[in-house]
Amino acid sequence: MNLLLDTFEFGLHTQLHFGVGRVKQLPEVIDKYNYKKVFICTDEGIKNSGGLELIEKSLMTAGINYEVFTGVEPDPTLRVIKKVEALFQESNCDAIIGLGGGSSIDTAKGVSIAVANPGDINDYEGKNQVPNRGPDIIAIPTTAGTGSEITHATVLKDEERRYKMGILSEHLHPRAAILDPELLTTLPKGLASITGMDALSHAVESYTSNQAHPITEALGLYAIELIGKWLRPFVADRTNIEAASNMMLASTIAGAAFIWGRVAAVHALSHPLGGRYKIAHGMANSMLLPVVMEYNLSSNFGKFKRIALALGEEVDGLNERHAAQKAVKSVKELVADLEIPTNLINLNVNLSEEEIQLVAQEAFDSGIATANPRQVTVKDLETMVQVIK
Ligand SMILES: [Fe+2]
Repeated sequence: MNLLLDTFEFGLHTQLHFGVGRVKQLPEVIDKYNYKKVFICTDEGIKNSGGLELIEKSLMTAGINYEVFTGVEPDPTLRVIKKVEALFQESNCDAIIGLGGGSSIDTAKGVSIAVANPGDINDYEGKNQVPNRGPDIIAIPTTAGTGSEITHATVLKDEERRYKMGILSEHLHPRAAILDPELLTTLPKGLASITGMDALSHAVESYTSNQAHPITEALGLYAIELIGKWLRPFVADRTNIEAASNMMLASTIAGAAFIWGRVAAVHALSHPLGGRYKIAHGMANSMLLPVVMEYNLSSNFGKFKRIALALGEEVDGLNERHAAQKAVKSVKELVADLEIPTNLINLNVNLSEEEIQLVAQEAFDSGIATANPRQVTVKDLETMVQVIK
C-alpha cells in the first residue's frame, strides 16, 4: 500500500472482556447495558461440558432473568433461525447471548436480524443489506476460532439451496464479547485443530488480501505468529491455559483483521464445500489454505516470507522466493502435526468433475475471492479443488 496515494478504513465496535475466569463477570456486562432479560443461544455440547451451568449460576446469583435455547446445530440453518426467532419473540428478552463456537454466535446474529427485519433472511445476503439493527448480541466464544465474536459477519445455511450464505452488516458486530480462555479447556481435540486452522486462514487471507492495509496487516501478522507458536501446544493439551489464552487472543485478533482486510479464495471455496457436502468450515480451510497460499505466492514473495518468519521458519540465506515457499511448507507441516486430513476423499467425499465445476462456479459467484491477491478465474478455483479432491 502506498500511504501517499491510498486511503483506508478501520474501526472496531465490540467491547472485549478478556481474561481467565472473566465469564463470571457476565452479570456486570448485562448490567452495564441495562438488559432486562437475556436469551442464551447455545448447543448440547456446551451444556454437557458444564459451560452453560457456569453461566446460569452467575446469572441466578445476580438475579438476572434469562431463557436458554440449547438446540444450535453446526452450520446454523435458516430453519433453526426461524425457530429461535419465535422463541425469542415469546421470551420478552432484550439481548441475545451467543455461547459456543461460531455456530452459536452466528445463530445469535441471524436471530437478531430476523427479529428486527421483515421478510425472509435470504433477502439480506451480502454486504450492508440489513436495514434495521436488532437486539444486541453478546458473544461468549468457546472455540478459537471463527472470530465471529468481533466480526460483522454471519454465515447461515439455506438447506433448500444447499447453500451457505454470508451476511455482512454493521448491525452484526456484537455489543460485547467475553473472551475467557477457561472455556476452551473442554474443547475436543479435533475441533481445537480445525477451528485453530480457521483462525490461521483468517490471519493469512487478510494479511495477504488485496484489501489489506497497515492496521489489518499488523493484526494479521501478529495472529499468524501467535497461532504458529500456540496452536500445537493447545491441541496437544487444551487445559494448557497459557496456550488456550494465546489461541483465544489470536482468534479474535484474526477476526479483527478480516473485518477490514477480508478473506479470499480459501473462504470462497470452503463455503460451497460446506453447503453442498457438509465439510466442516475449519476442515475445508485446512485443506485449502496451503493450496491457495501456493497459488498466491507470486503476488508478493515479501509478504509470504514474513509469514514464514512469523511461523518460526529459518529463512537466512534464502532469496525471497525460496523464503516465501517456506510459508507453504510450514502450514503443510502444521496440518500434518495436527493430523487433519488433506483430501476430501479421506472424508469419503468423492467429487465428480461436474461437482468440482459447480463448487468453483459458486465460489467465484460469491465474490469472496475478489479480495484474493492473485486474481482467480473459475478455472483457477477448479484447479484448487482438484488438488484437495
Ligand atoms: Fe472462517
